[in-house]
Amino acid sequence: MDGSMTHQLEGAANAPFYLPQSDECAVFEAAHENGLPVLLKGPTGCGKTRFVSHMAERLGRKLYTVACHDDLAAADLIGRYLLKGGETVWVDGPLTRAVREGAICYLDEVVEARKDVTVVLHPLTDDRRILPIDRTGEELEAAPGFMLVASYNPGYQNILKTLKPSTRQRFISVEFDFPKPELEIQVVAQETGLDEDRVRALVRLAGKLRALKGQDLEEGVSTRLVVYAATLIQQGMGVERAILAAMIEPLSDDEDVKRGLLDLVTAVFG
Ligand SMILES: Nc1ncnc2c1ncn2[C@@H]1O[C@H](COP(=O)(O)OP(=O)(O)O)[C@@H](O)[C@H]1O
Ligand SMILES: [Mg+2]
Repeated sequence: MDGSMTHQLEGAANAPFYLPQSDECAVFEAAHENGLPVLLKGPTGCGKTRFVSHMAERLGRKLYTVACHDDLAAADLIGRYLLKGGETVWVDGPLTRAVREGAICYLDEVVEARKDVTVVLHPLTDDRRILPIDRTGEELEAAPGFMLVASYNPGYQNILKTLKPSTRQRFISVEFDFPKPELEIQVVAQETGLDEDRVRALVRLAGKLRALKGQDLEEGVSTRLVVYAATLIQQGMGVERAILAAMIEPLSDDEDVKRGLLDLVTAVFG
């Protein structure tokens, strides 16, 4: 067994808990082995970020995560000259570091980033795997093991905030959704230690709330919120109070809509 293999086995033992929904682990591993970039599509709070940290640990790769926002510019990823003690020094950004070290760079909610960011990704996502750094004149070849991973939520994108086909078609894509009830029960029970019967009821409620997506609600309740509700209940909070705080209030600010959602709680919990 070579050194990297030992590292991978250790990684698997330390990896944060992730319950697969399908064959996403195998797809990710194959992409990693072949140096292909991966795009994870799915609603917020369904396990995308957890999946990436799990896989990074399993593969024994360092992970650089960047939460993208509308102010994020290419320089935030690549790096910039900074003044240090009267001298200007070049400081690598997270993407550059990942490229040099053969690490995984995860761009969370990539559509939020400014347009110049996606352009930077293009030469990294074709078969040359190169990162040109205009400011220093360097052209970095990605070290073996480097992998670009991005996520986005196709659900609430307006027409201005969607990935252009020229960017999208550079990635292997994996679709995520909220786990099926039996899996979600396992996830929430494992994450919180709450007993399965009480978790099952929360997951049943989550299913009913998700069915309202598109009518009264923009987004259904996330697995993250179900985990929050279960955490509060496990800590001793009353079930109704916990549900209100973790699964109803976060979904809407409209009093009528919230009253409607509470009717569903009564339907499930009696
Ligand atoms: N398949 C899963 N295995 C383990 N935990 C999960 C899974 N799916 C969701 N979770 C839980 O949901 C939470 C939110 O997931 P996260 O990865 O942050 O969502 P996303 O990045 O899709 O918004 C996690 O912290 C974890 O508790
Ligand atoms: Mg995330």
